[in-house]
Amino acid sequence: RTVYVNGEYLPEHQATVSVFDRGFLFADGVYEVTSVLGGKLIDFAGHAKRLERSLTELGMDMPMTEEDLLAIHRRLVDDNGIEDGLVYLQITRGAADRDFAYPAPDTPLTVVLFTQTKPGLADSPVAKKGIKVISIPDERWGRRDIKTVQLLYPSMGKMQAKAEGADDAWMIEDGHVTEGTSNNAYIVKDGTLITRHLGTEILHGITRAAVLRFAREAQMKVEERSFTLDEALAADEAFITSASTFVMPVVSIDGTDIGDGTPGPVAKRLREIYLDESR
Ligand code: PDD
Repeated sequence: RTVYVNGEYLPEHQATVSVFDRGFLFADGVYEVTSVLGGKLIDFAGHAKRLERSLTELGMDMPMTEEDLLAIHRRLVDDNGIEDGLVYLQITRGAADRDFAYPAPDTPLTVVLFTQTKPGLADSPVAKKGIKVISIPDERWGRRDIKTVQLLYPSMGKMQAKAEGADDAWMIEDGHVTEGTSNNAYIVKDGTLITRHLGTEILHGITRAAVLRFAREAQMKVEERSFTLDEALAADEAFITSASTFVMPVVSIDGTDIGDGTPGPVAKRLREIYLDESR
C-alpha cells in the first residue's frame, strides 16, 4: 500500500511518525473515515467540513485546502486500486517534547492518510441478516461531537459485545441511548424514525445527515430526540449508520429481538436509497 505522510507518498513500511507525536502520547488528534464505492469517494465534502470543525474545536487549523485534501484522497484511491473500501485520515498536533501544554503554534501538524480495501463493502451479507447489539454505559468524555482518536472505550465496548456473542454495543447515558461505538443509532416506532438530536453527546454523523435528508424526501416522519433503552427494546425496528456500514439493521438488543428479529422494511429501504443516491 502507498500511504500519505506529511506531504509524501510512501510504501507503508517506509512511512513513519515520531515517538513524540501528540497523537501517540495524548490522543491529541482527530480523524475521518470516508468510504469508497466503485472508486468514488462518498460524501467527501461532508467529511472535510466536519474535519475542519473538529480541528477548530481543538485549536488547530486545517493544514491544507479542501481541494488539496481531496487530491490526496483521490491519488491514494487510484494508486492503491481501491474499488470498494475506505480512506482513513488522521491529523494530530504534531511532535513535541512531552508536555500537557500544547507545543508552540508553529509546530507542524502530523497528517497521515491510508486506504483500506473492502471488496463488496456495499453488498455485505451482514446487512441481509442484521447485527446484534448489547447495551453498555456511555463512559466516554463529554465532547463526542469532536472526532478525536481517543477510541479506547468504544474499542472495549466492541470487544465486550463480541465476548457476549453480539456484534456491537449501544451506549447508554441517563437511561437514553447516545450512539453505537462507531455509528449513530436509530429506532422506528409506528412508522416514525427516531434518532438522537445533535449535541455534544454524539458524533454528528455524515451518513446520519444524508439518511435523515433522504428519509424526509421520502415523506417519512422523523423525530430527532433522545430515546430510552426501553423504547428501543419495544421498537418495531432499529438500525445504525456510519461511513463504513451505511445503513445497517439491528435485529436484537441485549438478546431481545427487535420487531420480528429480522431487518425491518424502513432500514432496508433507507439502505437502498442511501446506496442508490450516493454511488
Ligand atoms: N465512525 N458515531 C461515532 C462514535 C463514530 O465513530 C462514527 C463514525 C459515527 C458515524 O459517523 P459517519 O456517518 O460520519 O461515519 C457515529 C467511523 C466510521 C470509524 O470510527 O471508523
